[in-house]
Amino acid sequence: MSKRIVMGIQKGGCGKSTTAGVLAHLLARDGYKVLAVDLDSQGNLTELLSQQPSNEFVEHSVLEAMQYKDPESYIVNLSGNIDLLAANNFLATFPRWLYTGVSYTDEKIPYRGNPSLLLNEVLKQVDETYDYIVMDTPPSLSEQTTNALCASDYVVVMYECSNWCYSAIPNFLDSVEAADRVTPHDLKIAGILRTMNDVRRNDAKAFNEMIAEDYPDLVFPTIITRRAPTGRLALYGFEENPELKNALEQYESFYEELMQRVQQSG
Ligand SMILES: Nc1ncnc2c1ncn2[C@@H]1O[C@H](COP(=O)(O)OP(=O)(O)O)[C@@H](O)[C@H]1O
Ligand SMILES: [Mg+2]
Repeated sequence: MSKRIVMGIQKGGCGKSTTAGVLAHLLARDGYKVLAVDLDSQGNLTELLSQQPSNEFVEHSVLEAMQYKDPESYIVNLSGNIDLLAANNFLATFPRWLYTGVSYTDEKIPYRGNPSLLLNEVLKQVDETYDYIVMDTPPSLSEQTTNALCASDYVVVMYECSNWCYSAIPNFLDSVEAADRVTPHDLKIAGILRTMNDVRRNDAKAFNEMIAEDYPDLVFPTIITRRAPTGRLALYGFEENPELKNALEQYESFYEELMQRVQQSG
C-alpha cells in the first residue's frame, strides 16, 4: 500500500509545488517508487518535474484519469522511479464536469459517487504500484483540494511566514478535519512547514515564532528560507541542474523530519 502525502494551504506562493516536486525527487532518489499527482490547473508541479509545458499533457492528465476512472492510461513515466499524473488548464473544468457530467470536450461522462472521494477511488487502483503518492494542490479550497485531502494519509501544511498565511492556517486545518470525517483514510497532519522565510525581515521571524507557539507539536523544526537556487528549480528542474545540491540542501532536514513522522505513525 502506498503512503500518500499532500501539500496544502488555500493560498498561493507558499512553496507547495516546489516542496511537492522536491519531495518526489528525494523519495525517488532514495529508491522509492513515487507517483506525483498535480491537482493544480496551473500545472506547476507538472512543469517542474517534466520540464515540459503543461499544455503537452492536454488529454493526458489527471482530469482524464478521474473522468474515466483509469489512472494507468494517463500516468506518464518521467524517470526510473517517478511517474506523473499531470495537470493543465483544463483541470479548471473539473468541478463543472463533476456536477453536470459534461466534460470540456462536451462528452457526457456522468459520475454518481461522492464528489470528494473520486480521486481516492482512482488512486486505489494503483495503490500497490507505488511506495509514495505525492500530491500538489491549488491555492484555493476547491474540489481538487478536497479530493486530494480525501485521498491522502498525511498533509503537509505549507506556511509562508506572513500575516495572510497566518490567518489561512486555522481555516485550512478546519478543512482537513472536514475531509477526515468524509474519507475512509485516517488523514493526519504530518506538520506545518515554514517556507519562503526571508531571514532579513523581522516580521517574518515574528510570524515563524507565532505559528510555533500556536502549534508547537505540529511545526517542523526545519524552516525553509528564500534562496535563489531553490527558486530556480522552476527553471532548471532536477535533471540537468548545475546547482541542484544547493537547491535541495535546505530540504534534506525537512525530508528527514517528515519521514520520521510518516514512518513512526505507520
Ligand atoms: N525556498 C525558496 N526560495 C526562493 N524561491 C522559492 C522558494 N520556494 C519556492 N520559490 C519560488 O516561489 C514561487 C512560489 O513557489 P511555489 O512552489 O510555486 O508555491 P505555491 O505552489 O504554494 O504557489 C515560485 O516561483 C518558486 O519557484
Ligand atoms: Mg503551486
